[in-house]
Parts: sequence; C-alpha cells; structure tokens
Amino acid sequence: NDEVTGGSLKQQLAKLFEESLRITVPEELDVDPAIAPCQNPKFGDYQCNNAMGLWSKVKGKSTQFKGPQPIGQAIMKNLPASEMVDSCSIAGPGFVNVVLSRQWIAKSIQKMLVDGIEAWAPKLPVKRAVVDFSSPNIAKEMHVGHLRSTIIGDTLARMLEYSNVEVLRRNHVGDWGTQFGMLIEYLFEKFPSGEVASDQAIGDLETFYKASKQRFDSDPAFKERAQRAVVSLQAGEEKYRKAWAHICEISRRGYEKVYQRLGVHLEEKGESFYNPYIPGALELLSKQGLIEESEGARVIFIEGKNIPLIVVKKDGGYNYASTDLAALWYRLNEEKAEWIIYVTDVGQREHFEMFFTAAKRAGWLPAEENKYPKASHVGFGLVLGEDGKRFRTRSTETVKLVDLLDEAKSKCKAALIERGKAKEWTEEELEKTAEAVGYGAVKYADLKNNRTTNYTFSFDQMLNDKGNTAVYLLYAHARICSIIRKSGKDIEELKKTGTIDLVHPDERTLGLHLLQFAEVVEEACTNLLPNVLCEYLYNLSEDFTRFYTNCQVVGSAEETSRLLLCEATAVVMRKCFHLLGITPVYKI
Ligand code: ARG
Repeated sequence: NDEVTGGSLKQQLAKLFEESLRITVPEELDVDPAIAPCQNPKFGDYQCNNAMGLWSKVKGKSTQFKGPQPIGQAIMKNLPASEMVDSCSIAGPGFVNVVLSRQWIAKSIQKMLVDGIEAWAPKLPVKRAVVDFSSPNIAKEMHVGHLRSTIIGDTLARMLEYSNVEVLRRNHVGDWGTQFGMLIEYLFEKFPSGEVASDQAIGDLETFYKASKQRFDSDPAFKERAQRAVVSLQAGEEKYRKAWAHICEISRRGYEKVYQRLGVHLEEKGESFYNPYIPGALELLSKQGLIEESEGARVIFIEGKNIPLIVVKKDGGYNYASTDLAALWYRLNEEKAEWIIYVTDVGQREHFEMFFTAAKRAGWLPAEENKYPKASHVGFGLVLGEDGKRFRTRSTETVKLVDLLDEAKSKCKAALIERGKAKEWTEEELEKTAEAVGYGAVKYADLKNNRTTNYTFSFDQMLNDKGNTAVYLLYAHARICSIIRKSGKDIEELKKTGTIDLVHPDERTLGLHLLQFAEVVEEACTNLLPNVLCEYLYNLSEDFTRFYTNCQVVGSAEETSRLLLCEATAVVMRKCFHLLGITPVYKI
C-alpha cells in the first residue's frame, strides 16, 4: 500500500487509528478517530484522544478494560504497522502519542516535489459548491465591505477549487428592485429624445444615483412616474428593459475594473436572474404551510425571532428574501450544489439565519448542522480607519476601491525605488513587483484577521516589511528563490536524483510543517476561515528562518537535501499565495 498519498497527514493518521479502533472496540463502530497535534511536542507530533470517550461508553459493559488507560494501550497495540509511524507512547488517561518517522516525512515531501503540490490536495465531502460573493448593488457605490467580500470569497473559492470541488463563483448583484424605477425615469428625463444615453452622458453612476434619489424625494410627480416605471420594467416593456440593461452595463464595467486588478473571476447571476423562479419557490413553501398572511404581507414566521421573514410585500412585490429563497432553490435543484456559501458583512446574519431556517423547515436542507447539502453564511466585520471609525477618506466620501489599490501599488513602487531597484530592474519589473506586493498587501491584511472581527485599514501596517504582512512573506519567498539560484544547482535535476534527509531538529520541524499544509487547507475550508491559512504561512516562514539560521545550506555536506527543502518551502509558500490570491515575486 502506498501510504505517501491519500488525503492530508491527519486524514492518513486517522485512517490508521480507525483500523485500530475497529479491532480494539468492535462494538463501537461509529466512533471516529480523534486525532490532533500533540499538545506538548516533547511527547510526539500527533495524539489520538479516543480512550477517555470510549471508556465512558464501555464502562460497565466491558469486562475487557479496567479504565481509559488500558483502552489507550490496546489502541496503541492494535495500530497497524505503517512506515508513517516511528514510535508511540501512552500519556495520562490513555492518550496515544505518535512520533512520525522522519524518513516518511522526507519521502512525502520528495514525492510532492516530483508529483506537484496538487497531490497534496485535501479531500472534502462535496463535489460542487456555490460561492456567492462580492455582490455589489447596481448604481450604488461598491464600498470596502464589498472589497472584503470579494477578497474573502475569492480565497474560499480558490481553496475549494484546490480541494477538487467544482465552484460556481456567483456575483449576486443587486440589479432588481424599486430603485430602478427612479433611475430609469431620471434617465428618460435627462435624455427625452428616447435614445439611450452614452456612458459619458450618464457620467458617474453614483452621482447619477444621488441626483435621481434627490429628485425622487423632492418631487411627488416624479416619484409617481418612478413607481409606474418599476411596474413597466417588471412587465418587461422594451423601452424600460433597455434602459435598465444600459444602467446595469455601466455598473458592470466599473466592477470589472476592480475584479481585473484583483485577479478575481466571478460569474454574474444577479437578483434579476432569479426573479422568474420566485413564484414557483414560494408556491412550494406555501404548499407546505410555511407562508402566512400578516398585516397585508405574506410572511414566514421563524421560531425564536420577533419579526417574521417577509416574502411578499404589502404591495405584492418581491424582496431580498424572496429572491434569496428562489436562488437557493435554483442552486440546490438546477445547479445541484451541495454547499452554498454566502459572503457578506455580519450585519446580514439575521437575514441568512431566517431564510436558512425556512429552507430547513421546507426540507430543502437537512436540519442537522453537519449534513449536506448545506448553506453557510460567511460573515465579516467592518473595515475601520485608523481613527477607529468606519473607513473613509479625508472627506466624508466613502473610499473608492480602485483608488485604494492604486495607492497601495504606488507606495510599494516608491519603496522599491528607495531601495535602489530602479537602477537594477526594468520599468516593467518594477511595475509588476509593485503591483504584486501592493495588491497582495491589501488582500493579506484583510485575510489574516479572523473575518468576524472588524479590522483596521492601515497602509503603514500592511506595507511594513517586518511582521505578519504580505510584504514580509513575499520577500521571504523571494529570498528562498535567490538561495536556490545562487547555489548554481539545477533544482529540477536535484528533484530527480537527490534525497531529503531531515537530520537537524529544525529541518524536521520545517519538514513536518510542510506536510501539514493539506490539513490546514482542509480546516480553512471546513470552517470557512482564510486566516487559518495565513497563520500557517507565517509560521512556515518562521520555521524556515530558524532552519536557515541554524543549518548551512550552500556549500555544506547536506547541500542537496537542504536545497530540496528550500525548494519545497518555496513551492508550498507559492501555493499559499495562490490560494490567497496573491502573486508571488521571485526576486527583491
Ligand atoms: N447585494 C447585497 C449587498 O450589497 C449582497 C448580496 C449577498 N448575496 C445574497 N445572496 N444575498 O448587501
């Protein structure tokens, strides 16, 4: 059996312990192995924590065991022989500590270098997922909250894709609703000849939105026309559809610019797309008796919530919730997604909780938390300015995303020029590096925090070349590449002919950390927490630094092995960057 492949290190260990548990306690077949990194690395690398739990199950029933410790002993004894494991020991009330074989660690890394990092992809229990992210509202500003959604959603999609999940990246743009009546009517008013205006004529959509809103609020006659326009649009009248499509198109082009810079790919299926599916979805819910009449509206009452979920407004119109119910139905039944992930600010948590509950009551989703198909809300906190308040620029204006990215880039470029790179590099290299570091810094600063907390946007912090920043990590990677380059060795050749031997303790620590990559991605996916991957990446660079400080690479007797370890570190770092949507740099 080839034990080097097949899921993450933790999954592989779990498989071994599963076999042992089957032999040890054949009457408790539904117990999953509980494997975790050793609390105290002195005792080993991983531990199996099943003995105590098993003892409470078999106590009184089993004559074979007299306590948790003997169970632990038996688990250890029944562990199948494996080249993964160097030795085991028992601690406390039956914890089984495992010391992994350093030969096996080395062999696994070497195999990854030959087969590519794709071979380390974790295995997830779903085949297809929807990630609903970014999702700005047409004609309104795309604010930093949408930037967070775009960055977090893209990373989640990338991690799932790496784990061989087919991801439908959905931009659920707000392109439907009553605000379009006012926008269209204002468009007609400004261009009475009926021809659809050119982009220049509409100008800045945000300003256009504000102007039309002002008109709407101050002129009752306009307001009435706007309300009629909504009806005409929803009835599909050609002239109105055209104007609507035009406004959406201008917005779309603006968003596309941001996505392009960020290297984010999205497929737009906006609210309007699901509109035709609303009546059918509501009909299904209605048949199950979920929808009731309340104060003229049609609503779903949710246990434990003071206000019901409105699905048809008093005026008969649909809303955000009815659209989301239809979209969920579509994603489950038409797109056959098993996991549907929504990335928005935590302020929308209630909305998601409510319609998820409705879907569970309707039997669209299983009631159990860890069963699929599953819907998950990935909530994130606010972006704060350095003054601790909601992030804004100097004036009262909200921050324009494109400006933010431009500023990060130009600051990086200035720093590179200050380091004398303008003389060493071509203008193109300078531009490319500034862009990779600048955009990477903005993304990483966001991703490294637990997403549920607010985070403070600070150029000074994110562009610092020391500490847990993208700048520091990108430079660390470039330095490793330069070590390999300067050795003058052909690394591709070494991969085929050389062997890794993890003799020094710092080599072993680094090697083990590399091998834990897959289970970290697995955890980040399962809990939808990109910061777990950031933490891993930062620790990896620290383990590397320790190794490089204490182990001579170039010119040492262990040169080949150590160069391969450098290369493996660079490969894993690059994959982390890739999953975080950051472009690596190779020289600094
Ligand atoms: N357009 C919404 C907003 O800007 C976000 C949409 C999130 N997706 C969803 N299916 N509700 O707040």
